[in-house]
Amino acid sequence: MKAKITLAKEFRIGDIDKRIYGSFIEHLGRAVYGGIYEPGHPTADENGLRQDVIDLVKKLNVPVVRYPGGNFVSGYNWEDGVGPVENRPKRLDLAWGTTEPNEFGTNEFLEWCKKANTECMMAVNLGTRGPEEARNLVEYCNHPSGTYWSDLRRSHGVENPHNIRLWCLGNEMDGGWQMGAKTAVEYGRTALEASKLMKWTSPGIETVLCGSSSRNMSTFGKWEAETLDIAYDSIDYVSLHQYYGNHDDDVMSFLALTMQLDDFIYSIICTCDYIKARKRSKKTINLSFDEWNVWYHSNNAPFEKWSQAPKLLEDIYNFEDALLVGSMLITLLRHCDRVKIACLAQLVNVIAPIFTQTGGGVFEQTTFFPFMHLSNYGRGSALLPLVDCPKYDCKQFTDVPYLETIATYDEENDEMAIFCVNKSTDESMVLDVNLMDFDGYKPCEFISMDGYHKKDENTFDDIKVKPHNNPVPALDGTTLTVELKPFSWNVIRLKK
Ligand code: AHR
Repeated sequence: MKAKITLAKEFRIGDIDKRIYGSFIEHLGRAVYGGIYEPGHPTADENGLRQDVIDLVKKLNVPVVRYPGGNFVSGYNWEDGVGPVENRPKRLDLAWGTTEPNEFGTNEFLEWCKKANTECMMAVNLGTRGPEEARNLVEYCNHPSGTYWSDLRRSHGVENPHNIRLWCLGNEMDGGWQMGAKTAVEYGRTALEASKLMKWTSPGIETVLCGSSSRNMSTFGKWEAETLDIAYDSIDYVSLHQYYGNHDDDVMSFLALTMQLDDFIYSIICTCDYIKARKRSKKTINLSFDEWNVWYHSNNAPFEKWSQAPKLLEDIYNFEDALLVGSMLITLLRHCDRVKIACLAQLVNVIAPIFTQTGGGVFEQTTFFPFMHLSNYGRGSALLPLVDCPKYDCKQFTDVPYLETIATYDEENDEMAIFCVNKSTDESMVLDVNLMDFDGYKPCEFISMDGYHKKDENTFDDIKVKPHNNPVPALDGTTLTVELKPFSWNVIRLKK
C-alpha cells in the first residue's frame, strides 16, 4: 500500500515538555525490592542500588519518575521510610496484600534519582491521611533548615533540601479499591487544602489533581468537572490513567485503541477548558498522563498473601505490545501542547520495560525500544503531519489509519525525527514524506523493528525483538521515500 505525509515548520503542535517521557516506581511487587534496590546484588553500589538497572534507565533517558505509588501511597506513612533503617517498622500494605519492610524510603529514592539522572515526582497520601502529613513531607524534603521537619531530614544525613518540584495530590481517589477513596466533593476539598498548604510551605512547586482512575469509571467527566471546580485555582495539572490489553486476541482492534486514547485526552482538555470558561479564568490546566501502558498478561497471577516483594504484575511483553506502546506515546505527543507530563507505568519488573531476576540478570522487554527511541530522538517540538493513508475497520472502530505517526523538530540541534507504526500485519507501506520547508535536512539514520511474529517476546537469554538499522532512504528534492515493512516500528532521523 502507499501513503503520504507532509511536514512543514508551521505544523508545530507545541514544545515537547521532556517530562512527557516520564515513568513510575511504586512500592509494589519487585519494582523497588529486587528491582532498583537489591543490597548484595553483584552490581549493587554501597547503597544497594542496582547499577545494571540504572544503566538501562539511563538508556531510556527518563527525566522524571513518579513515586511511591500508585495504590500503595494511599496507605503510606512517609515517616516510616526515613531515619535509621533498624528503627523502621514493617507494615501491612493493604493495597497489594503484601508486607512493606520500609528499608527503602524517600531519601533512598532521591539518591537513586541522582544516580539515574532523573527527577522525582512525589505523590502524597490523601487516602488515609491528609493536608497536614502532606505539608510535613514537603517541609521535610524542600525546606532548607531550622524547622522540625527540615532538621529531621538533616539529622538523617541529608543536609541539602531535595527541592522536589512536582507533587501528586494522592492517587486514583475515585476508585473503590483505593484506601480512603472519596467522593468528588470530599476529594476536591482535600486536594485544594493540601495543595494550598504544600505551596505555602514550598513556593514554586507544582501539583497534580487526580482525575478519574480511567475513562471507564461511571463518574468519568463529572469527577474531573467537580474536583476542578473546587481546586482549580491551586492546582496545575489534572491526571489521566489508562491501561490497555489485547483481551480478545484481536490485534487490529488492540492497535486501534489509540483512537480511544486520542478521544480520552481530548475529552479531558475540553473538561479543563469548560471549568476555565465558567470561572472566567486566565489560568490553563494542563494534563499529566501519569499512568499509561499495556497491562493484562499478568492479571490474577497467584502470590503468597503478606509476603515481601512477591512477583506481582510481571507482564512479559511481546512485539504487538511494543507497537501499541510506540503508538500510545505518538498519540501523547500529538497532544503535547496540553499533555506536559506522562509516566510509562511502570519502570522495573511491574508492568515495565526493564525486567530483572532477583540476584541475577536484567533484560530489555520489547516495549523498551520504542520508548527509548522517542525519548532520545523525539525532543524539541512536535509537528502534526498531514497524513494520507489507507484505513481499516475493526470491531470497535472504523476508519483506523494503518499509519500512526508523529514528527519532531529539534531546532537547536538541527535534528528531526519521524516515528511511524505500520499497523498492517501483511502489507508493506511505501511512504512518501514531503519535507516542504525543511531545506537542507537529509536522512541520516533509519531504524526499525520488523519481521517478528506478533507474539515474540524477549528473555534473559535472548533479546529476540530489538531494533536494527536499514539503508538510509533516498531523498528526491523535498520528497523522502521509505518502505515501512508490514507490522513495524520505524524511526527516520534527519540532520541539517
Ligand atoms: O500501576 C499499577 C496500579 O494501577 C497503580 O498502583 C494504580 O494507581 C493503578 O490502578
